[in-house]
Amino acid sequence: MARKIMIAGNWKMNGLSADGLELAKAIKAEVKLKKRNCEFVVCPPFTLLGTIKKALKGSRIVLGAQDCHFDEKGAHTGDISPLMLLDMGCTYVILGHSERRTDHGETDELVSKKAKAAHKAGLKTIICIGETLAQRESGETIDVCSKQILGSVPDDATAVDTVIAYEPVWAIGTGKTPTTQDVEEVHAAVRKVLAKKLGRAQANKMRILYGGSVKPSNAKELLSLPDVDGGLIGGASLKAGDFLAIADNAGC
Ligand code: 13P
Repeated sequence: MARKIMIAGNWKMNGLSADGLELAKAIKAEVKLKKRNCEFVVCPPFTLLGTIKKALKGSRIVLGAQDCHFDEKGAHTGDISPLMLLDMGCTYVILGHSERRTDHGETDELVSKKAKAAHKAGLKTIICIGETLAQRESGETIDVCSKQILGSVPDDATAVDTVIAYEPVWAIGTGKTPTTQDVEEVHAAVRKVLAKKLGRAQANKMRILYGGSVKPSNAKELLSLPDVDGGLIGGASLKAGDFLAIADNAGC
């Protein structure tokens, strides 16, 4: 079964009302220009979810958030629950991004707990994994990514409710990318681990995105590899033209 390419924009901590709205409108207009066969997701900061949801109305671009808590509600100052995200119109939530693992000490166990709660609420998850530069240099990439998959992806995850994003930490925001051979090697290994954990049928249907310094000029080589099913785009998702050029070059 063919896996539908996903082009997802992670805006991270960027965007105030005016520029966020302008960006969403520009993406919506660009998406409309061509018949496209991929799934577009934009993940603005929490503060812009309502504004962007309205701006995207009538388009086929879906909304995602960048994190959630594992509880439905309660005494968790500053946190946002999966139900709240659903209530704001989100379809997806990114979990376990390396910036959250680093800035907030998130562990695989916590990511899995959040993912279970998100699925229970009816959200789909984009679960991020990826090695640091030191881990890559010491040859631990596959082991690190396998361990993250085993620990962060719930045992009952399916290809419908879960997308994996492989994002080498050292490639995020640096302009550096792994070779296409390295990317394909990790994605194939991740799919093998998913098959062990979830069964071959789910693993074959589950999308594995690549993220880390994707731009229009490298999108074709990185995103058209056999086991790469789209991209999770950071910096380049903040320019509508670049975001759509990435989709074009990824063949959708
Ligand atoms: P960049 O595309 O800016 O490298 O960020 C990638 C990323 O972290 C997406 O989640």
